[in-house]
Amino acid sequence: MAASRRGTLALLCAAAVATLTLSTQGYAQDKQITLGFAQVGAESAWRTANTESVKSAAADAHVKLKFSDAQQKQENQIKAIRSYIAQKVDVIAFSPVVESGWEPVLREAKAAKIPVILTDRSIDVKDPSLYVTMIGSDFLEEGRRGGKWLEDHYKDQSGPINIAELQGTVGSAPANDRHSGLMEVIKDDPKFKIIASQSGDFTLAGGKQVMEAFIKTYGNKINVVYAHNDDMALGAIQAMEEAGMHPGKDITVVSFDATKGGFQAMAAGKMNVDVECSPLLGPQLMEAAKAVAAGKTLPKRIVTTETVFPADVAAATLPSRKY
Ligand code: AHR
Repeated sequence: MAASRRGTLALLCAAAVATLTLSTQGYAQDKQITLGFAQVGAESAWRTANTESVKSAAADAHVKLKFSDAQQKQENQIKAIRSYIAQKVDVIAFSPVVESGWEPVLREAKAAKIPVILTDRSIDVKDPSLYVTMIGSDFLEEGRRGGKWLEDHYKDQSGPINIAELQGTVGSAPANDRHSGLMEVIKDDPKFKIIASQSGDFTLAGGKQVMEAFIKTYGNKINVVYAHNDDMALGAIQAMEEAGMHPGKDITVVSFDATKGGFQAMAAGKMNVDVECSPLLGPQLMEAAKAVAAGKTLPKRIVTTETVFPADVAAATLPSRKY
C-alpha cells in the first residue's frame, strides 16, 4: 500500500485499532447467516491452518460457510466474490492474494449491499468504505521485528552482512510489508546488504528452487537468509543442506509464521528466529461477520497479537504450538 495512503488510513483508524472482543453471546439466537469466504489457496502450512480455523469456527458459530480456494490467482478470487454476490450471501470475507485491483468487484458488492470483511491480507483501495474491517497481522511490524532481531544478533560484528531474501507472492501485502519492515530497520546501517531478492511464492518448492539459484550465484557470500515464510525457509534449508552448508550455523535463517515446521527447524538448530504470524483468525472472523450482519459497527482494523520466537525457546514451546 502506498505510504501516504497507509498513513491516512492509519490516522483514520488509529483510535479504532483493537482486538475484537465482541461476545458471541447475544448473537446466539439470531438467524443463521451465510458467509462466502474466498481463500487465497493452499500454498503453505500457515494457509492450511487458516482454512481449518475458518471452517471449524464457522461450524462452532453456526455460520453457513461457502468456501472457495483461488489457487493463488486473483481472477479466481474475483470470480468467487462475484458468485457470492449472485448468491446473495449475508457477508463476504476474503484474504486477498495481492493488494491492488479490487475496486471493481468491491463496488459490485457494495452496490448489492453485501458487507465485505478482509482477513489476513490488506488491500490498496482509495475508498475504504469498500470493506467493513480488516482482521489480521501487522506485516510491516513483523518485518521490523525480523530486522531488529538481525540488528541485535549482529550488534558486535562488523560487515558486510549479506542478506538473501526469499520474498512471498509478488504484490501481496505480507511480501511488500515484510520487505519494507526490514528495510526500515537496516537502511541506515551500511553493514547490512540485501545481495539477492526473489519470490518463492510462499511455497516450499519455490523457496528451495530460489535458494539453489542464490547458492549457485553467491555461494558462501550469503550470511543471512530472510525468508518471508516458514515453507520457503524450510525449502531453503533443504537447498543449503544439499549444497553441504549448515543452515542456522554458518548461515543465519530468519523466518515468519512460527508454524510447527518452523519450530522443528529451530529445535534442530537449522533456523535462528521465527517471527509469529497467527493464522487462527476463524473465531474473530465469525464474530465480526455476525456482528456486521446484525448491523453493528466494527473497528476498521483488528490487529492480531503476536510475538517473536528465537531458536532457544523452540524446544520448550513446540509442544504447545497449535499450527
Ligand atoms: O498472508 C499470510 C502469509 O501467507 C503467510 O506468512 C504465508 O505462510 C502464507 O502463505
